Amino acid sequence: MSVTEQPPADGPGPASGPSSGAQRLGPGDTDAAQEALRDRIAADSLTTRRDYLRIVATVSGGLAVGGVAVASGILHRHGDPDGTPEVKKIADRILPGESLAFRYPGDEDRAIAVRMEDGTLAGYSAVCTHLACAVLWRKDRGSEGELYCPCHEGVFDARTGEVTAGPPPRGLPKVILIEQIDGSVWAIGTARSGESLQEGYCRQRGAGTPPCAALRAGAPAARAGAERSERA
Ligand code: FES
Repeated sequence: MSVTEQPPADGPGPASGPSSGAQRLGPGDTDAAQEALRDRIAADSLTTRRDYLRIVATVSGGLAVGGVAVASGILHRHGDPDGTPEVKKIADRILPGESLAFRYPGDEDRAIAVRMEDGTLAGYSAVCTHLACAVLWRKDRGSEGELYCPCHEGVFDARTGEVTAGPPPRGLPKVILIEQIDGSVWAIGTARSGESLQEGYCRQRGAGTPPCAALRAGAPAARAGAERSERA
């Protein structure tokens, strides 16, 4: 029982024994009894403060360890999947100004695709490189929208994924997207922070693959060809 609780009205009084936490001091109580009660209250308060500090330290420590683990590569990071990522259709169509949340390369990997007003399509990991909060699309910010992390005001360039404001230590890893003639959008690979789409694709699929060579050439038609080749 806490020291702030009171015993039942018809229950035992202060003399009910040492296991009773509630005590009432009457006018006849001695200084010693009052002193004992003050000590008891002080001890309970100290215990509560210690427990509180222990919880705070545990939670903070967990966050710090998680952040360090992600930063040091101990935990799985976007743009660095185990094995070769699959080719996956993510939408029938993405219109200018729209964004789409999806999962890639794994079912737990949050990703986001955005279509800028000029038609440019870009895909990124939606996991902030600071402390792994979810990254959102803000269409009405800047000249062509921005990717924004609300946890600590991190901002990423929508066209490149690079950091433009806030504490994130590096840009967002990318998801390599292609668009078919029918408007459908497919994810075909990932690229690490600071790596180009071409470098990411060729690292994952092999520099000798025809799609990699076509991407090196930069021919737009080759991009759809890359997808068709992968699906074959
Ligand atoms: Fe994104 Fe801190 S977690 S800015």
